[in-house]
Amino acid sequence: MNSLVLGIESSCDETAVAVVRNATQVLANEVSSQVDTHRRYGGVVPEVASRQHLESLPFLVEAAFQKAGVGYGDLTGIAVTAAPGLIGALLVGLSAAKGLAFRLDLPLAAVHHIEAHLYAAQLDTEPIVFPALGLVVSGGHTEIYDIQDWGKYRLLASTRDDAAGEAFDKVAKLMGLGYPGGPMIEKLAKLSPDKKSHFTRARMSDGTQDFSFSGLKTAVSLELQKNPVQNETDQRNLAAKFQNTVLLEIGSRVQNALEAGTYKSLIVGGGVACNQALRDHLGKMTGSFGIDLRVPPPKYCSDNAAMIAGLGAYQLSQGKRADLSTTAIPRAAFY
Ligand code: KG4
Ligand code: ZN
Repeated sequence: MNSLVLGIESSCDETAVAVVRNATQVLANEVSSQVDTHRRYGGVVPEVASRQHLESLPFLVEAAFQKAGVGYGDLTGIAVTAAPGLIGALLVGLSAAKGLAFRLDLPLAAVHHIEAHLYAAQLDTEPIVFPALGLVVSGGHTEIYDIQDWGKYRLLASTRDDAAGEAFDKVAKLMGLGYPGGPMIEKLAKLSPDKKSHFTRARMSDGTQDFSFSGLKTAVSLELQKNPVQNETDQRNLAAKFQNTVLLEIGSRVQNALEAGTYKSLIVGGGVACNQALRDHLGKMTGSFGIDLRVPPPKYCSDNAAMIAGLGAYQLSQGKRADLSTTAIPRAAFY
């Protein structure tokens, strides 16, 4: 394979452009976060996000070319996030990608954002050894997959209500910490000596391994009513108690899935995978199973376009091409 693919990501509040060689080697990974814009609203405002993508994209394409030391004429393909995400935000990236593919007469890959979060584990590193168990923990998704190869997925578990990242964000809001909550809760929890206490865990009465985080959010809210946070120590301990519960929730389901199958790797992706406590927790687990933990560096866990360009290049190499009639889909499965 000798490919050079430009990737575009605009599904939520990060505008990102990347250039990836041969589906794994990242030459440029430019990200413009809109977090500061949306922070004042306590969450992402879709129309504001779309407009900002439109403004940022042309500059990011130039910056990515400069960083990679390549130009339009060197590209062999264009990849873009087509699903899932905010419809207006997706359409900005998809329209730009279609325009580039048409103008440059290049093949287009329409990539699923969640599949790309898993594929990120293969960027700038060794190929994944399959079969693998895949865990996606992002702002909108919490899922476990059986992965026999790229493109061969079976959904094993998903969330019934909130996603893991959403739980971090909502609890941070309850605690008056602002948006996005994950990094702030992690920072506070790290300063607490409490690595053990946790809230009551969610159990599915139908015996599935599905996740549920909305009860945990309610538990934190009740705890705040009962024992209002008085000082920084209280705040740190509450953050730790919440995070400990999330680690147990995720960890127990991953453990059950690993026990039920024969996997050679555990792939973890999505913004919550930036969390060092989660990485350590899963690292101990994969160590005890004697399998590889494949969790990318934080820059490839949170939203980025390198994962889009990488997966897009892989799909193009497999003959999977999108055409100019491809539409953006806010909710869609890839498995
Ligand atoms: O994958 P991502 O960047 O965007 C989506 O596709 O949703 O994930 C964003 C989510 C947010 O909910 C954010 O609070 C969470 O990832 N997050 C974290 C950490 N860093 C980001 N959650 C826990 N600990 C972190 N260090
Ligand atoms: Zn994401």
